[in-house]
Amino acid sequence: MTAHRQHHDRLEELRKLNAEAEAGGGAERREREHKQGKLSARERIDLVLDEGTFEELDKFVRHSSHDFGMETQRPPGDGFITGFGRINGRLVYVFAQDFTVFGGSLSESNAGKIIKIMDLAMRAGAPVIGLNDSGGARIQEGVKSLAGYAEIFLRNTLASGVIPQISAIMGPCAGGAVYSPAITDFIFMTRDTSYMFVTGPDVIKTVTHEEVTKQELGGAMTHNATSGVAHFVAVDDAECLAMIRELFSYLPSNNLDDAPKRPTVDPWDRVTPALNAIVPENPQQPYDIKEVIHALVDDGEFFEVHEHFAKNIVVGFAHMDGRSIGIVANQPAFLAGVLDINASIKGARFVRFCDCFNIPLLTLEDVPGFLPGTQQEFGGIIRNGAKLLYAFAEATVPKITLITRKAYGGAYCVMSSKHIRTDYNFAWPTAEIAVMGPEGAVNIVYKREIDRAPEADREALRREKIDEFRETFANPYVAAESGYIDAVIEPAHTRARIVAAFRSLENKRDTNPRKKHGNIPL
Ligand code: HXC
Repeated sequence: MTAHRQHHDRLEELRKLNAEAEAGGGAERREREHKQGKLSARERIDLVLDEGTFEELDKFVRHSSHDFGMETQRPPGDGFITGFGRINGRLVYVFAQDFTVFGGSLSESNAGKIIKIMDLAMRAGAPVIGLNDSGGARIQEGVKSLAGYAEIFLRNTLASGVIPQISAIMGPCAGGAVYSPAITDFIFMTRDTSYMFVTGPDVIKTVTHEEVTKQELGGAMTHNATSGVAHFVAVDDAECLAMIRELFSYLPSNNLDDAPKRPTVDPWDRVTPALNAIVPENPQQPYDIKEVIHALVDDGEFFEVHEHFAKNIVVGFAHMDGRSIGIVANQPAFLAGVLDINASIKGARFVRFCDCFNIPLLTLEDVPGFLPGTQQEFGGIIRNGAKLLYAFAEATVPKITLITRKAYGGAYCVMSSKHIRTDYNFAWPTAEIAVMGPEGAVNIVYKREIDRAPEADREALRREKIDEFRETFANPYVAAESGYIDAVIEPAHTRARIVAAFRSLENKRDTNPRKKHGNIPL
């Protein structure tokens, strides 16, 4: 009887503790969160993982702070929920901060919970997803909380390029706390309920006298469109978590694996006649490169990354022949597809992600060059443009480039040209590969001759020279003659040519010289 009773009590105790941990900061605080349109930390975990796969760890960890009356409030779990589960059957580690418990703030104890799953994820070769919603360092713990952050930052850095790390910002994320998401591979933000900044509006007002709201300063669109800190914006929590699941379908679990194959009924050699007419006759006229992307990839599905930032370059994931690929494409429909500082940084970061994680790269090129101007030069377009060049040159994954139209000047070299180890370089018959556009070239090369001509004849002479220049250089055949272009292809047959090329690279092996690490011009 006594033995039975004890057994029963122990089960009761466990159930009570579990319920206590699951209650978080209580119904009232949870209700306040729900009213703002936010899901609870546990609801978020349930949505991001396959149903019923979550295995929680450290549910009974408590903080050990004894200052400021904290010894009387020691809820099990300490406001962070950590563990592992599955996305489409594949293992992932996950943590979620519960804003209802001390504002989701980071203590020494719950930092330990994150550190534990990060170490496990590294050993298991599985991605980590962080669902952030936190008032930052737990103020009552002082430097111990800062130490916890720094230990997490260290692990983010060591895990970089080994396992994919994904951050979702689903509430506040302020102060140094932003640096953990910043080191991870992709940042998602919810549209109306999240913000990130290093110093908030009050501090800014004191120091610089600027008046700015939290949303203006660090809301989802600020970071998606202006700063480029975030890669994705979702209308709410549910969409954010669904997008994370979708992103995972393009990623391998770690740097030694390949991304999962996705079977498709889309024929690998599907002909796309529309592409024969997509590049306008007039070289100054824009067209939407995303139409080309949709026409080429499996089932027309393109998962765009950084959609709202530096729209003159388009980056994102797709499948071709069932395999995950990364696409980098100049966008003639925005700023004529010119390369500027932001586009270079955006492209470089994406190329490096793909290279870390064995995702082959397809580059679509239509670029009139680098953007001229003092703003760009003073901002360091030299150093920043070099990032994109460096990233393409160092990448050893299968690389294919297709020049659809303009490939001018330094931008020709940078955009995964043959000379920086690209495996296959294709061009459409509409390609123009030259040091610069015909107008610019004539203005320089024939300046004296045109100036010397009688004024009445100057314009005609200029036109004649431009036509001559266009005739000579504005085509892919000079480059093809030298082998810089491997094949000039009919646009309608591009999909088959690219798939055949990627198939030939399935077992590609290439390496960089042994070194500690390169010195990319940051
Ligand atoms: C402990 C915190 C907390 C924190 C919030 N809370 N932030 N407890 N440490 N950092 C608690 C509150 O006391 C409150 O408890 C509950 O969480 C909800 O907070 P509210 O202020 O009522 O919520 P809201 O009005 O929505 O405002 C959210 C907020 C605000 C804007 C995040 O709480 C805030 O400004 N917090 C402090 C942010 C901050 O300065 N953190 C340090 C940043 S520096 P009750 O019991 O009332 O529910 C930093 C350094 C990191 O993080 C360093 C890494 C190197």
